[in-house]
Amino acid sequence: MAEAPKRDIRNHVLFEIATEVANRVGGIYSVLKSKAQVTTAEYGSTYTLLGPLNRASAAVEVEEIVPKDPALVATIKSMNDRGIKTLYGRWLIDGAPRVLLFDTGTGYFKLDEWKGDLWNTAGIPSPPDDHETNEAIVFGYLIAWFLGEYVYHEKERAVIAQFHEWLAGVALPLCKRRKIDVTTIFTTHATLLGRYLCAGSVDFYNNLQYFDVDAEAGKRGIYHRYCIERAAAHAADVFTTVSHITAYESEHLLKRKPDGVLPNGLNVKKFSATHEFQNLHSINRDRITDFVRGHFYGHNDFDPEKTLYFFTAGRYEYRNKGVDMFIESLARLNHQMKSSGSDMTVVAFIIMPAQTTSLAVEALKGQAVIKSLRDTITHIENNVGKKLFDKSLRWHEGDEVPDEKDLLSSQDKIMLRRRLFAMKRYTLPPIVTHNMVSDTEDPILNQIRRCQLFNHPSDRVKVIFHPEFLSSGNPVLPMDYDDFVRGTHMGVFSSYYEPWGYTPAECTVMGVPSITTNLSGFGCYMEELIENASDYGIYIVDRRTKGVDDSVNQLSDFMFEFTKKSKRQRINQRNRTERLSDLLDWKRMGMEYVKARQLALRRAYPDSFEGDDEGGFFDGTENVKITRPLSAPGSPRERSGMMTPGDFASLQEGREGLSTEDYIAWKLPEDEEEEDYPFPLTLK
Ligand code: UDP
Ligand code: GLC
Repeated sequence: MAEAPKRDIRNHVLFEIATEVANRVGGIYSVLKSKAQVTTAEYGSTYTLLGPLNRASAAVEVEEIVPKDPALVATIKSMNDRGIKTLYGRWLIDGAPRVLLFDTGTGYFKLDEWKGDLWNTAGIPSPPDDHETNEAIVFGYLIAWFLGEYVYHEKERAVIAQFHEWLAGVALPLCKRRKIDVTTIFTTHATLLGRYLCAGSVDFYNNLQYFDVDAEAGKRGIYHRYCIERAAAHAADVFTTVSHITAYESEHLLKRKPDGVLPNGLNVKKFSATHEFQNLHSINRDRITDFVRGHFYGHNDFDPEKTLYFFTAGRYEYRNKGVDMFIESLARLNHQMKSSGSDMTVVAFIIMPAQTTSLAVEALKGQAVIKSLRDTITHIENNVGKKLFDKSLRWHEGDEVPDEKDLLSSQDKIMLRRRLFAMKRYTLPPIVTHNMVSDTEDPILNQIRRCQLFNHPSDRVKVIFHPEFLSSGNPVLPMDYDDFVRGTHMGVFSSYYEPWGYTPAECTVMGVPSITTNLSGFGCYMEELIENASDYGIYIVDRRTKGVDDSVNQLSDFMFEFTKKSKRQRINQRNRTERLSDLLDWKRMGMEYVKARQLALRRAYPDSFEGDDEGGFFDGTENVKITRPLSAPGSPRERSGMMTPGDFASLQEGREGLSTEDYIAWKLPEDEEEEDYPFPLTLK
C-alpha cells in the first residue's frame, strides 16, 4: 500500500466514520460526541466525522460551513456534480468538530450496481428487502468513493480512516480491494451475532468457541449482515473493540483477534460540577419528587425524605440489558424491605423506548391534579398572608393576636375540598406512563405482572415504566436525561450483553452510584481497576460464575443494603463515586485511540518508521510534534511514567494477546473532605 511518493505520516488527516454522527441512536453517538473535544484538540481542522445525513437531527445539531481543505473541496464538488448531496458543517457540541454528512437517498440510483459489485468483489450477498443493509451499502460505497477521490487530490499527507460498527463497515473491504491509499481502523461496539444470540435463551459465554457462526447467522436471517461485519473486521489494518469481553467475543465470532481495546471515555469537564454536584442532585431529586407526587396522587403515603429513586435506562433490549433480572430483584427487594419492617420506599424507574400511541390519560391527570392542588394552595397562601397582614396592621395594644381560624375563608375551604376530592382514586397508581401498542405482550409489563409489583400501598418498592427516552419537553416527566440521572440515588444496569455500557459510566461521573455486571465492558473495566469498588458506588453483580438465582439475590442484596444507608452515608458515597470521574475521562481513555492510529500508520507505512523500533510516537521522548493527546502517554513497553488505560490492551506490533497488565502511577486524588468512614482505594 505504501508505495512512493511517501505520504507525510506526521501531519496526517483523520476521518472517523459512523452512522451516529450528529444522530443519536445509542451509545456510539455518546462515544463520538463526548470524544470530540479531545480529538479536535489534537487534530483541529484535520479531523472530520463522516456520516449519513439525517435531515431532522442535522437541522438542530449541525451548522453548515464552507470547507477550506482544497482536497476536501475538490472531492465534495466532484461528488455533488455527480448527484450526491452532502452537508459540510460544524457539529454543535463541545469541540465543534467538522462533519461531512452524505444524503444516502441521492446514492440509491446506484444501489443495484453496488450490490452486484459487493457480491463480485467481496462475496457479500444482499437480499432486496433489508432496508438497513441497503443503507449500509449505499453509505459504504459513498465513503469508499469519497476516500478514493480524497487521496487522489491529497497526495502529501497520510490519511487515517476509523470506522465504527458494521453499519459503517462496508467501505472497509472496498478500500482494501481498490487499494485506496488510506490506513484503516475498524472499531466494533458489539457483534451482531453476540447481540442476537444473547437476546435468545442461549448460554452464550460458555459456548462462545463452539458456535457454528455461519449457521447461527443464517438461522437468524442476518447472514449478509454478518458477512459485512466479518469482512470489515478482516479488511481493516487495525481491528479494535471497546472492551476485553467483546474482544474475546470478536475473536470467536468474527474470527479475528482484535489488536487492542479502546475503552469508552466521557467528557468529564462537562459533567463535573465539582462541589456543585451534590446541590444538583438535590435540585433534580426534588423535580423527580414533583413527578412522583403526581403519579401517585391519592397514594402519597410515603415520605419523600425516606424515598430512594432507582432507575435503569437504555435501548429496549429486554434480556441483553438485564431488565428481566432487575424486575425480579425488585420483587425480592420488596419482600426484604417489607419483612424487615423498613420505613424506606424505593421508586424504581425503567426508561426504555417501546412502541406507544400516546401518553396515558391517568399519567397526565396525575400531574394536572397535583398542579391544581399546588395552584390552589398558593392562592390560599396569598389570601391568608394578605388577610393576616391587614389584620396585623389594624392591631392595637390590648387586642387579641389574629386568630388563624378567621384566616381561611369558606370559599378557600370549598376550593381546597374540591382539590382533595379530585385526588380520590379507586385504582392503584399506574405502572406505565404511556399507552402501549402491545400492552399484553410487552415483556417488561409481563414480568412486572408476574412479579406482582402493582404499586400497592403496602409495597415498599414502586415501579414506573417510562417507555420513551426522557426530554424536558415531555409534559408528564419534563426532565432531560442527565438531570434525571443526577436526581436519582442509584442506577441499576444488570446487563447480560453489554460491550461497554455508557449508562453506569455516566452515573459515575455525575456522582451517582450504580450497579452493573461482570458481563459488561464497563463493569469488567472497573473491577480490574479498583479492588473495593462497591465502597465507591460501583457495585458489580456476578453474572459470570453464579447461577441466575444467585445473581438475582446478589442484586437485590446490593439494593437492600443501599436502602439501609443513612443520608450522610449516601452523601459520602456520592463524593467517592464522583471522584472516580478522572478514570473515565477521555483525556486518559483517548490514549488508546492515539495508539491505535499510530499502529495503523505503522502497518500501512512501515518504511516511514524505519529505525524507529522503540515505539516511535508512543514513548513520549521524541520531539516530533505529532497528534499529541492532552496528557502525554508513558511508554507502554517500558511501563514507566503514567499508566494509560491501554495497559489493558496491546496496541503494539509484536505483542500477542490481550493480557491485563499491572497499573502504574495512578491513584485517586486525596480525600478532600472528612468522611464518616474513609475507605482507602486499593488498586489491584
Ligand atoms: N440515553 C439517553 N436518554 C435516555 C436514556 C438513555 O440519551 O432517556 C442514552 C445514555 O445517555 C447513553 C445511551 O443512551 O449514552 C445508551 O448507551 P449504552 O452504551 O448504555 O447502550 P447502547 O444503547 O449503546 O447499547
Ligand atoms: C454499543 C453497546 C454498548 C456500548 C456502546 C458504545 O451500542 O451496546 O454497550 O456502550 O456501543 O460503545
